[in-house]
Amino acid sequence: MIIGIGIDIIEVARVQRAVERNPRFVDRVFTPGEIAYTEGKKSRFQHLAARFAAKEAFFKAIGRRLHWTDIETANLLSGQPQLIVHSTEELGFTRSHVSISHLADYALAVVILEK
Ligand SMILES: CC(C)(COP(=O)(O)OP(=O)(O)OC[C@H]1O[C@@H](n2cnc3c(N)ncnc32)[C@H](O)[C@@H]1OP(=O)(O)O)[C@@H](O)C(=O)NCCC(=O)NCCS
Repeated sequence: MIIGIGIDIIEVARVQRAVERNPRFVDRVFTPGEIAYTEGKKSRFQHLAARFAAKEAFFKAIGRRLHWTDIETANLLSGQPQLIVHSTEELGFTRSHVSISHLADYALAVVILEK
């Protein structure tokens, strides 16, 4: 049964500005795995923005906010993204689905939660 859906769109430039203004922003918001995935990529800020959008989309789907690093996007070998939820709280869902897309200016993510 689907118990939640969330969507978020974000300007890539907004994330880029946040990263460039405050070097701590990256570590506060993104997990080591997310940082490793995006480091050295040509469109690094698109990938970071998409991961930011995935966290926001998750918060919408679950109906509350957690710590940014509680929600991690990880990619399978195929490239398909998955969510890893690091929260120790019982959040009431058994399965999550995420889909991500990004262009030069905008990144977006959709999250669906099942129970
Ligand atoms: C992978 C694919 C979905 C990416 O789409 P795109 O329009 O190029 O790029 P988008 O910005 O919309 O999406 C990128 C995101 O798609 C997601 N993605 C990548 N591979 C995926 C897959 N196999 N299934 C689902 N989602 C995937 C990733 O989250 C990626 O973002 P990330 O790298 O920051 O995590 C697209 O290339 C595709 O349809 N591939 C399947 C067919 C295929 O393999 N084609 C290549 C033939 S040479």
